Amino acid sequence: MTASVSRPLTATENIAKAAALLKAGALVGFPTETVYGLGADACNDAAVAQIFAAKGRPSDHPLIVHVADAEQALVFAEQVPEFARRLMQAFWPGPLSLILPRRAGVAAAAAGGQASVGLRCPSHPMAQALLRAAHAAGVAGVAAPSANRFGRVSPTTAAHVHSELGEALFVLDGGACEVGIESTIVDCTRGVPVLLRPGVLTPAALEAACGQRVLTKEELAQDTPRASGTLEAHYAPQAKLRLMDAKALQAALDLLGAEARHIAVYSRTLLRVKSSAIVVRRMPDDAGATAQQLFAALRGFDTQGVKLIWVEAVPARPEWDGVRDRLQRAAAS
Ligand code: TXA
Ligand code: MG
Repeated sequence: MTASVSRPLTATENIAKAAALLKAGALVGFPTETVYGLGADACNDAAVAQIFAAKGRPSDHPLIVHVADAEQALVFAEQVPEFARRLMQAFWPGPLSLILPRRAGVAAAAAGGQASVGLRCPSHPMAQALLRAAHAAGVAGVAAPSANRFGRVSPTTAAHVHSELGEALFVLDGGACEVGIESTIVDCTRGVPVLLRPGVLTPAALEAACGQRVLTKEELAQDTPRASGTLEAHYAPQAKLRLMDAKALQAALDLLGAEARHIAVYSRTLLRVKSSAIVVRRMPDDAGATAQQLFAALRGFDTQGVKLIWVEAVPARPEWDGVRDRLQRAAAS
């Protein structure tokens, strides 16, 4: 007999509760190593519809289905080309999503009607525990976009998820995400690997693992499947974001008076700032460390009531591709 006591649930109890909610067709927020996800049973169309409603996301934008291992991915993927198999071996569990041909009749709503399906095997221990518990309860995979409202910055803490989607949502708290930007997406449906969304995995690392060149979207002349993460203006903070090199940034700062306010500066270079009301935050010199804090930093500027965010452009090196991509999108909106 279990007495009903009002104590906080243990980690194991929270996982069991989250798995039961998923099985019952409800939504659950959960941590991954990249960003927090808003999960639903990928094979329950009504549950998946709630994700689109909660996010305010058009229902033809496909969701990524999360699985605990490569074997579970085979429930959703019709076929896995050799280069995709190698990518799975090298990077799963980890921050890599693969687009694969979808098995007919499986997760159609989650895939937004595409003939393909996005699959991801996250490494976060809490995500792994959730996916295994859900699987044991009869949930073959968990469809989960980032747990933010459509077009906004992805959440990297449980508190961010609550502030995006409300306090009523059940969210597993796994702390701040280690990677901090969304997974690298490789389309494996075109006979050759195509990079749809840069993340923390460099093209060189992907190529070394799969033994062939990874094309960019631009190199692929055909139209790619809809990907809201690839829309120009996405990942936007409320404030207007501008990217400048250090020299242009300093010149812009020099034009401001001592009473300038509502401006944030996010730079690696130490700059002269006349007004003490300007919010200054140092960007790490390391691409991985910058990715980890980027979305929380943008959210923080919004919270401080900043209207303009001036960001120093990042180095033109491949390890910065993911961060550069998110900043360029934020600047485009
Ligand atoms: O790191 C991540 O990938 C996070 C965490 C929660 O796993 N998820 C995430 O999901 O970023 P979301 O929905 O915010 O972005 C997924 C991207 C979207 O741009 C979507 O259009 C694309 O993946 N995508 C999903 N399935 C696809 C498919 N079948 N074909 C083309 N693009 C697809
Ligand atoms: Mg997203």
